[in-house]
Amino acid sequence: MLYDQHHRPLRNLRLSVTDRCNLRCSYCMPEPDYLWLPREDILQFEEIDRLTDLFIGLGVDKVRLTGGEPLLRRDLPDLVARLAQKPGLRDLALTTNGVLLAPAAAALKAAGLHRVTVSLDTLQADRFEALTRSNELGRVLEGIATAAPIFPGLKLDTVVMRGINDDELVPLMAFARHHGAEIRFIEYMDVGGATHWSPDRVVSRDEILAHLGAHYGPIVPVGKQDSAPADRYRLPDGTIFGIVSSTTAPFCAACDRSRLTADGQWFLCLYGSRGLDLRGPLRGGADDEAIAGALRGVWHARTDRGAEARLAAGHRGLIPVDSLRRDPHLEMHTRGG
Ligand code: GTP
Ligand code: 5AD
Ligand code: SF4
Repeated sequence: MLYDQHHRPLRNLRLSVTDRCNLRCSYCMPEPDYLWLPREDILQFEEIDRLTDLFIGLGVDKVRLTGGEPLLRRDLPDLVARLAQKPGLRDLALTTNGVLLAPAAAALKAAGLHRVTVSLDTLQADRFEALTRSNELGRVLEGIATAAPIFPGLKLDTVVMRGINDDELVPLMAFARHHGAEIRFIEYMDVGGATHWSPDRVVSRDEILAHLGAHYGPIVPVGKQDSAPADRYRLPDGTIFGIVSSTTAPFCAACDRSRLTADGQWFLCLYGSRGLDLRGPLRGGADDEAIAGALRGVWHARTDRGAEARLAAGHRGLIPVDSLRRDPHLEMHTRGG
């Protein structure tokens, strides 16, 4: 097993398959226009496949497909089928905004996808439109209804923002329960791309628990995996839900995840300022041992604790829009949510 400087293993790889998205969520892509990665730089499935094998060789056993919106990537089930065959992969999951999920769910399952997480921040059509600049809530809800029976244990991710959707925690919990899904409430993070972030918009884990406790009664914590970002809890009626408190209580100490962008840059942290270029060596004819050696060296030297550093710095100094324009790799939608 390969460890970094804080004895964190390399186990969890988030593969962004496209930087494009069909929504414009206010916490991720609030700007009027974006600079996209050049098409010719986007890794082919063969290239992703080869890199994934190298990562598995170094200890990765969990892969999550992300975007942008991963279902915008043509023939995604073909990539899923390639990855699902790898004996070293214990877990193969997808994070989607759900818009294109209903027609794709059966093919993804048939291709071997294990798990799905759908982002859902509101159940109100007018709010959805204000939040995402799209009127696709109906298709998202249909996507969830279609996928829930196909992918048991479906998860829903809700970014909670004060004054925007923090009055919907109970309806969202009821909706999740209705579909047999596990909902996770996520603290609003000051990641690259969240140019409208401000501390007063963050609803903390403690506040979320107080709000839910006032409605449902006593809430008890249940065990969590060491490296998972979500703390899990149980309501008095047995319903399990999660809270991801990356802003007020980061999980950097146990973070075993890294991210590969659609154009082959490898980031060791959500907040990392630059990634390691893997596309260059891959296309320049480097052999497997050379690439694996580079991965090993970089992970071994890893010291990143980005969310903790943001907390310690008082969350001052969001990445300015002109820096994001100059380097789209700083965007959350390029790194994968
Ligand atoms: P599983 O535990 O495998 O189901 O996935 P997950 O909990 O990693 O879920 P998901 O990928 O849906 O991530 C949930 C949320 O956690 C994201 O939407 C982010 O808000 C946050 N998150 C994910 N990865 C990171 C990370 O590397 N650092 C920080 N600080 N937050 C992250
Ligand atoms: N704060 C918290 N979570 C975010 N995501 C994207 N941007 C942010 C942010 N600023 C996460 C959400 C979304 C997923 C794709 O990425 O969980 O559902
Ligand atoms: Fe929203 Fe995800 Fe698209 Fe960002 S990438 S705008 S979070 S759906």
